[in-house]
Amino acid sequence: MARTKIALIGGGQIGGVLAQLIAQKELGDVVMFDVVEDMPQGKTLDIAEAARVDGFDSKLRGTNDYKDIEGSDLVIITAGLPRKPGMSRDDLLSTNAKIMKQVAEGVKQYAPNSIVIIISNPLDAMVTLFQKVSGFPYQKVMGQAGVLDSSRFATFIAWELDVSVKDVNAMVLGGHGDTMVPLIRYSNVNGVPVMEMLERKYNDKAKAQEVMNAMVDRTKMAGGEVVKLLKTGSAFYSPASSAIAMAESILKDQKRLLPTCAFLKGEFGVDGYYVGVPAVLSSSGIERIVELSLDKDEQAALDNSVNAVKNLVADMERLGF
Ligand code: APR
Repeated sequence: MARTKIALIGGGQIGGVLAQLIAQKELGDVVMFDVVEDMPQGKTLDIAEAARVDGFDSKLRGTNDYKDIEGSDLVIITAGLPRKPGMSRDDLLSTNAKIMKQVAEGVKQYAPNSIVIIISNPLDAMVTLFQKVSGFPYQKVMGQAGVLDSSRFATFIAWELDVSVKDVNAMVLGGHGDTMVPLIRYSNVNGVPVMEMLERKYNDKAKAQEVMNAMVDRTKMAGGEVVKLLKTGSAFYSPASSAIAMAESILKDQKRLLPTCAFLKGEFGVDGYYVGVPAVLSSSGIERIVELSLDKDEQAALDNSVNAVKNLVADMERLGF
């Protein structure tokens, strides 16, 4: 049986962590492509030389030639510029759209049967563009955003309630921008609703709501919080880990239910757009989308987020993509 081959398009900050995690988890062999000469070769050599200490058999190589990604089963794309302080994800639109178009052409030519996870921002637009240029089935093209946004929300909840983050389930839907929708009603600690725990902690409904609102706001701005501190780039450890959770579910056919930027055909009242929703990820890619009943406010927040995605896609089309 052939070994699993994973192509990383973009060997920057996120690409480097992805390569190391794939090797340490032995998810497959890695080919890291980047336009910068020698860099992906150097980075993968560095990781490969830890094989003895980490104890992995994954093979890693770097390349500047798309031909080397030939036959990849899975492709994870981080090519593009990251945000600088003060920049919104949308400011990246035009630069990263040019890059994504090239990437989609390269992947289409050399890995036409692959499943693709995109991390490059602005996420919802980049996923839309990749699918359009490649013509890949919708089921096989998805974006990583919700796993990270939900993990951030869960982390803040765990800190606030002083419980293990392993027991916190939190779900964030919508576009990967400031309009994303952290679902308060669906967040719980091993089944116990977070709002109930907050109300008991503060013995005051209004205070509990205030604390929850602050966590929701911090989740929406969490990417920017990291950008502001790093000053030279955006988050990279947590986006890499999040994409690996999706990759593992696909490669091992785990069927995990993960918030995924997926193409909607009527689900959640959305038709013809990529939006973050709960999806079951299996060896076929997005095996199915799981619908939730949303109350009036939640649906309104999701509609607002979908409108932001629609505007972003319209802006991209106006730019000629
Ligand atoms: N093809 C392939 N790789 C490219 C191309 C291209 N046409 N253009 C740029 N790159 C590479 C850069 O050379 C760089 O190594 O993409 C890599 C991006 O890496 P970083 O700048 O370190 O950015 P990173 O932090 O990894 O984030 C990548 O993910 O979360 C998003 O907003 C983030 O869009 C950004 C992307």
